[in-house]
Amino acid sequence: MSKSILILASGTGSLAQAIIVATQSGQISGNVIGVLTDQPEAQVVAKCAVLEVPIITHPMNSDRKSWDEELFLITQSLNPALVVSAGFMRILAPEFVSTFKVINSHPALLPNFPGAHAVRDALAAKAAVTGATIHWVDAGMDTGKVIAQREVPVLEGDTEALLHERIKIVERGLIVATISDLLASMENNHE
Ligand code: GAR
Repeated sequence: MSKSILILASGTGSLAQAIIVATQSGQISGNVIGVLTDQPEAQVVAKCAVLEVPIITHPMNSDRKSWDEELFLITQSLNPALVVSAGFMRILAPEFVSTFKVINSHPALLPNFPGAHAVRDALAAKAAVTGATIHWVDAGMDTGKVIAQREVPVLEGDTEALLHERIKIVERGLIVATISDLLASMENNHE
């Protein structure tokens, strides 16, 4: 049976798009049941419409606890085999990450440069090499077990935007390959 994926995204949605296209082409043997965003105006919403994938908008409100509870209930009702945080700029609640299988893509070589400004931080630290990491999500910030990493060199004259775009090219390939492997191993383990 085809494994279902729920994507969480907050921004441009280029990673979400790469995952969806890979499921539609058969590169990933699974299907994206929906993309949940906390940003109803984000570009990812329009991308999902074009790709004919359901978008679920769940904007943040002043009551963070109820937002977390609703996110839990939405996800429970969709029952995904895998939740993929692909540019989702929120920390997920401990109950969420201990209940669902959740992975995240991060634009640095963790444990280096965790947090929301990983590319800026790598440049500020004058790192010669940075990269992309796919990891399991635990209750910490970018602290979960690393699944896969790829390096990206920092080039002379790099700006945050230029470097981030080169990292995202690598991230798109890495997240697709990682999801494909994870779903295949779940299938083999009859999960
Ligand atoms: C990606 O680089 C992703 O790793 C990063 O946001 C970008 C989303 O790009 N996420 C984080 O920094 C989370 N800490 P996209 O909107 O084009 O998919």
